[in-house]
Amino acid sequence: MCGIVGYIGHREAYPIVIEGLKRLEYRGYDSAGIALFDGTDLKVSKTKGKVSDLEERVETQISKSGNLGIGHTRWATHGVPNDVNSHPHVSNSGDLVIIHNGIIENYESLKKELIKRGYTFKSDTDTEVLINLIEEVKTIEGVKLGKAVQIALNQVVGAYAIAVFDKNKPEEVVVARLGSPLAVGIGEDEFFIASDASPFIEYTKNAIYLEDEEMAIIRFHKGIKVRKIKDDSLVDPYIQELQLNLEQIEKGGYEHFMLKEIHEQPKAITDTFRGRLLRDEAIIKMGGIEDNMKKFLNANRIIIVACGTSWHAGLVAEYIFEDLARIPVEVEYASEFRYRNPVITENDVLIAISQSGETADTLAAIKMAKSKGAFVFGVCNVVGSSIARESDAGAYTHAGPEIGVASTKAFTTQITVLSLIALRLARAKGTISSSDFRRYLLEMEMIPEKVEKALESDAHIQEVSEIYKDAANFLYLGRGYNFPVALEGALKLKEISYIHAEGYPAAEMKHGPIALIDENMPIVVIATKAEHYDKVISNIQEIKSRKGKIIGVITEGDTIVRDLADHVIEVPDTIEALSPLLTTIPLQLLSYHIAVMLDKNVDQPRNLAKSVTVE
Ligand code: M6R
Repeated sequence: MCGIVGYIGHREAYPIVIEGLKRLEYRGYDSAGIALFDGTDLKVSKTKGKVSDLEERVETQISKSGNLGIGHTRWATHGVPNDVNSHPHVSNSGDLVIIHNGIIENYESLKKELIKRGYTFKSDTDTEVLINLIEEVKTIEGVKLGKAVQIALNQVVGAYAIAVFDKNKPEEVVVARLGSPLAVGIGEDEFFIASDASPFIEYTKNAIYLEDEEMAIIRFHKGIKVRKIKDDSLVDPYIQELQLNLEQIEKGGYEHFMLKEIHEQPKAITDTFRGRLLRDEAIIKMGGIEDNMKKFLNANRIIIVACGTSWHAGLVAEYIFEDLARIPVEVEYASEFRYRNPVITENDVLIAISQSGETADTLAAIKMAKSKGAFVFGVCNVVGSSIARESDAGAYTHAGPEIGVASTKAFTTQITVLSLIALRLARAKGTISSSDFRRYLLEMEMIPEKVEKALESDAHIQEVSEIYKDAANFLYLGRGYNFPVALEGALKLKEISYIHAEGYPAAEMKHGPIALIDENMPIVVIATKAEHYDKVISNIQEIKSRKGKIIGVITEGDTIVRDLADHVIEVPDTIEALSPLLTTIPLQLLSYHIAVMLDKNVDQPRNLAKSVTVE
């Protein structure tokens, strides 16, 4: 939550910071601000609203010159989104300025102390407390900015990625991280600071990702020094070569990132398979699994922890792991798991699933499980993210950057990775025959093509969306492997169109939700040909008798559900365990089109942020 950007070097900072904030807007978008230093004046402009609102405000408020600048796009934690609570925040003396992503948990006690010492506060934020604490330390101890930041950070409890500078020493920026990501791009005598590398990708391919509890002092003309915040020891930073390119973070002709990402799924799934699914050799090769095969094979059980869409992918995985590999699986919301004193032993394997790799609850669940001796395997999309680094081993989804807040290609690639793992383990355990294994490999290889085919229903889905866009509620039903898909379909609709939607196992409908059904209720039923197909047909009949409107997601060519439903959307046939990779597609498109028709902000839905780094 919150995106931070900074620049120090020979170029004008403003265009770099503003463009960078636009790329990081997925992290938070309720207010934005910028601070520039032009050699004489510190200029700060900030506003409630989006980066485009900030651009307008800057035009009338400050001059855009200066080779030093920091900017922030906010997802409010402490204090409502308004101009005053927006970052950057300036210290009482007017000398120090800060941007911050994270939460200072003990800010109230620190604030009280600072008030006793005569400090005043304009905003309700924890960040204004931090910059004044740094100022207080600097004054009392008579130390330089870097040291003052270090001493102050050793007094705070919480999470942060910060960038701070002193207008009296404008050749230097101090950055630090704990629990929130921070990358420093290294150019030719210039430095870029950002929550991820997207703001500086066209300027440099070299970056340092700070580790937790590290800080860096960046000096124009002099370079960068990285230190441990706790003990001041110097760190030799690893300069990483970035694989990201500009095209990946642009809309590429699509109206929204979400639509682009939905259409990228055939390629994303192919990328997830690359080098892992070797059909000719009839093997699945995954380094993280091969190296730790014993851990998996000897595991009492697998515990999957995740949040939101990633949790839904975990639920799909539960079916496939138990079905094929015969390993008991429990799927947990990371936020519940971490606080309920679960029984964890050294024989447990914990799989953490996260697109961003930064979700605070998932990260905390990992740390807790590790402390109790469990082996932790991460399934992340963002390379080098905190969860990826904290895990004992892992597998990346290789979906490429996902910028739309509503997760799409991350979900299908997570299911892809988890299916590969389940199959690999099933093969190693001997719980799948070699002919079935080959059949799975063959079918998996065809999934990208079948996803492409499922995407061809787009125009028809638009027509269906037009009919139901004004419904107040939606019900999504599915059984077995497609129960989690029903949950995911409902979540997608809720988060981008703000229509209330419930996902339910189809058979559970009669235990309550059936009371909601009348002639105004659209019910999306995933009714593909599967083991419980007949039972789903019975559920459809029950809906029909209560006059509900049925939108069936069916297997290509199925005439039975076609005759019963009000509308059908076809997906290609596949093995049931792989069907979520196809049935998800129409549900993504349905929610997308409804949200567009309702004129909602599809890529940046209200109150949400792409990466949830607060608990
Ligand atoms: O980055 P993560 O996968 O850990 O994020 C988990 C959830 O915050 C995320 O899936 C969220 O539910 C999405 N907005 C769903 O579209």
